[in-house]
Amino acid sequence: MTTLTEADAVDGLRDALGLLKDREQVAERLLASSAKHSFDPDRELDWDAPFEDGKWFWPPELVSLYGTPMWQRMSEEQRILLSQHEAAALASLGIWFELILMQLLVRHIYDKAATSAHVRYALTEIEDECRHSKMFARLIERGDAPWYPVSRAHRNLGRLFKTISTTPGSFTATLLGEEVLDWMQRLTFPDERVQPLVRGVTRIHVVEEARHVRYAREELRRQMVTAPRWSQEFTRVTSGEFARVFSVAFVNPEVYANVGLDRREAVAQVRASGHRREVMQTGAKRLTDFLDDIGVLQGVGRRLWKSSGLLA
Ligand SMILES: [Fe+2]
Ligand SMILES: [Fe+2]
Repeated sequence: MTTLTEADAVDGLRDALGLLKDREQVAERLLASSAKHSFDPDRELDWDAPFEDGKWFWPPELVSLYGTPMWQRMSEEQRILLSQHEAAALASLGIWFELILMQLLVRHIYDKAATSAHVRYALTEIEDECRHSKMFARLIERGDAPWYPVSRAHRNLGRLFKTISTTPGSFTATLLGEEVLDWMQRLTFPDERVQPLVRGVTRIHVVEEARHVRYAREELRRQMVTAPRWSQEFTRVTSGEFARVFSVAFVNPEVYANVGLDRREAVAQVRASGHRREVMQTGAKRLTDFLDDIGVLQGVGRRLWKSSGLLA
């Protein structure tokens, strides 16, 4: 058995102070970047320009049914219409994530000094998310596709989670919500086949989201060192469970019925699609590599991640 010596205690204290200093430095850099590169979507984008005929609302390869037998039978028009509905469903999902995230951030800073850079950055990120959610809502409203809320069960799960989750659990969920969509948006904004408004919305989101990912990653990395062991273990299991919820909630199946397809058949074909599995795993890869690196993908958690289809 080892006993804690005075030297150990000093070391521990030094580590903790080092982590806090590091946290402040990261936040200062993110605040400087926010001051330079933040956008007002209402002014930045041309919301009145008509949509262009023949242009996609989401890159076709990232549309869930791409490459399936059902996709082969669809006309080009119907495929583009599906891309419009999926873009609306993803924007709706984005708003759901952001509302959860805003509450998690508010809880995270509730008992921290508001003068710290770490808290001031969290408040800045909440401002970003407010603009994003309004921007996504305006994008949905601008098109002919409806608002696609997540299922009632998922909404209630989200309600419970945002109320009780631990700090490392919160940041893991944040990254899951941010990184896969971010990967898709990085392919969307430079794509000339896509509607200019959708490209503008995704460009703004990618620029501002890079800071959020950095903030969440750095905090999670610290948390996986400093949080109690039960909390680290709990994070592994809950993150695997999020991954499963995430992969089911990702595209609202109502989109298929709304473009005149058989909903059950479409869902079955998406599930069986090797292309889709590859898209989702590639989209999650940056995140799963990182989580693996900091020790989140172990044991039961890892098995849950695999069963979500996001981890190869
Ligand atoms: Fe956002
Ligand atoms: Fe974000």
